[in-house]
Amino acid sequence: MLRFDASQSTISPSLIQDSQSSLTSYVADLKEAADSHEYTKGYGSVALPDDESTLQLVQEMAAELVTSELKYVVDIGIGGSNLGAKAVYDALYGFKDVLEPNRYPKMLFADTNDPEYLSALVAFLQKNVAKPEEVIVNVISKSGGTTETITNAEMVLSALSQLNIQDRIVVTTEKTSPMGAATTRLNYRFLPHPNVGGRYSIFSTVGLFPLLCGGIDIVALRRGALEMRTTCLGADLTTNPALHSAAVLHALLERGYVIHDLFFFHSELESLGKWYRQLMGESLGKEHDIAGKQVFAGMTPTVSIGSTDLHSMAQLYLGGPRNKVTTFISSAVSRKVMTPSQFLFEGLVAHIENRPVSEIMDAILQGTQIAYTKQGLPHMHVELDAVDSESIGAFMQMKMIEMMLLARLMNVDAFDQPHVELYKTEMKHILSTK
Ligand code: PA5
Repeated sequence: MLRFDASQSTISPSLIQDSQSSLTSYVADLKEAADSHEYTKGYGSVALPDDESTLQLVQEMAAELVTSELKYVVDIGIGGSNLGAKAVYDALYGFKDVLEPNRYPKMLFADTNDPEYLSALVAFLQKNVAKPEEVIVNVISKSGGTTETITNAEMVLSALSQLNIQDRIVVTTEKTSPMGAATTRLNYRFLPHPNVGGRYSIFSTVGLFPLLCGGIDIVALRRGALEMRTTCLGADLTTNPALHSAAVLHALLERGYVIHDLFFFHSELESLGKWYRQLMGESLGKEHDIAGKQVFAGMTPTVSIGSTDLHSMAQLYLGGPRNKVTTFISSAVSRKVMTPSQFLFEGLVAHIENRPVSEIMDAILQGTQIAYTKQGLPHMHVELDAVDSESIGAFMQMKMIEMMLLARLMNVDAFDQPHVELYKTEMKHILSTK
């Protein structure tokens, strides 16, 4: 799964203990919600990792649609409806799709309404999908009324209208949403979106179905999440990484560290960082606290990739404003890829011949961490066992619980996003008047 180390956080154990004590009853509430398998509270998503009926639903639907002929799973959704699935797929396959053109099935994502991308996607599907069995289109929207998602769905479905793909279209939405009613009328397949916020929905139908169709081991993903949930909601809070991380972030936020940088030393985890950006951005960025007081709260999540961003951002991180806390993410096991024993560029850089590439990366990571420590910069470390489904499931579960606890410490609602509506209202007005 993963190991968490906050020894370089600069926050004292007594402060951590204070946060721990103040969260004890909330952790008990989360535990109760996890055991009840009811999705009535904002934090109900903690019940998902062992929700067997969801797994069964997803597996049955996939079993009817996935055959050896399947080539493309088109995932149409935005924000909480697609960031989780994209994070997992990109980490395991997506990052190298361009290098493995003959590996199937592949997932293709459509979120924003980018005309260039959309026209390329439509042309690609028209050229490469010869029969219905080669494609699944999953349209995902909790509200069922998101402009970008409906625009993209119409474009893709219209592009494939010459094929008889009605049976290959799966709509994931709330039963009572307008899209739910349209799905029944159009006789498309339906998966229920549970009553959990999009950014907490990765272990529901929203994430599990497209990932299973895309070839991901969702049983291992859930196993990692469940094990981590047990750790994060267990009685022994001293070994609880979600609580520890939330307490550190909160203490640092109060000291002016307003940016949380997730520094991944695996470039394939960049989309996981983007998933976390939504999780932190939407959960903590609030004008009002729970009591209704205007607070303009928030912590800004950023994503860095090691070692690429050391060559573009390290100067700012190491020498710039003291307003960032960093969590480094690496993995214990990497593929054994060796550098050649005889270099053509012989003698230019010492000690890198005939070595595992991962050892070079480890040296870069350790060097970076030592430099951060020497500069007095607060940092934490999450080490995944490996970049695999189980560890990614554990990481995502840890981060979702961390966010719930951090929001609680900040006294803001982790589960609403009232200000996302502001741009939607303006956009709808503009579209109606042009
Ligand atoms: O968290 C949110 O509310 C948003 O990011 C949504 O996930 C996003 O707007 C998509 O909404 P929907 O799933 O209703 O289409």
